Amino acid sequence: MTAAERVRGWVKTAQSIAVLTGAGISAESGIPTFRDAGGLWKNFRAEDLATPQAFARDPKLVWEWYDWRRSLIAKAEPNRGHHALADLEKRTANFTLITQNVDGLHDRAGATHLLKVHGDIWTLRCTLCGKERHDARPSFPDLPPHCFCGGIERPGVVWFGERLPPEIWSQSEQAASAADVFLVVGTSALVYPAAGLVHLAKASGAKVVEVNPAETPVSGMVDFSWRAPAAQALPLLVS
Ligand code: OAD
Repeated sequence: MTAAERVRGWVKTAQSIAVLTGAGISAESGIPTFRDAGGLWKNFRAEDLATPQAFARDPKLVWEWYDWRRSLIAKAEPNRGHHALADLEKRTANFTLITQNVDGLHDRAGATHLLKVHGDIWTLRCTLCGKERHDARPSFPDLPPHCFCGGIERPGVVWFGERLPPEIWSQSEQAASAADVFLVVGTSALVYPAAGLVHLAKASGAKVVEVNPAETPVSGMVDFSWRAPAAQALPLLVS
């Protein structure tokens, strides 16, 4: 039996599966990841822009970055990896998809048990009155966008140094600790607390499977590292 067949056996017989995805699952939809080649925007790293301090200093600059990403995401379609996970959800008794992605491609592929630990790029939140609204325009005529109350709006995402949404995080921890199989897909596993879910799942007894063409800091502790792009590996894993 090959390693891949063994992993397919784990997935097939699991009563409870949790999945953690990162930017890599959307790479084959044409959305650049943050830390691979092509991820920099105007030579800024995500850590330079995705912070409350960067937004306070220069909201227009931060919004220009999000506008760039929104325009790329608006043109993108979910790929075979997103669809494979949506299929897996349908045939697994307990299934939770935890994503660090803010692009909405899992929703569009049909995922329903979805926990967005880093928020949603299509949500805007007023920095003055706190009102949230959905806005699917790929880019805005004027940046930064403003709320009806006059306040500057920010993207409804979690920035470095900010707390993850507590209820979503607690459900993510529960899913990771209850999983028989935990899939880690397309994440560099560098950003915490999200990456901590891999350790939690492993310590709670799950079989942990990584899908990533590159090695990551968690590769050494997983039960199987599948070195392949998500759109190629995931359909095979769930077929
Ligand atoms: P990264 O850009 O850090 O990592 C992307 C990972 O995807 C890398 O490990 C790649 O090897 C892998 N990868 C690339 N192409 C792939 C493919 N076709 N299939 C599978 N894997 C592939 O992205 P994240 O781990 O998602 O947070 O980054 C975590 C967080 O850092 C993001 O949510 C974002 C970012 O700053 C915030 O904005 C708060």
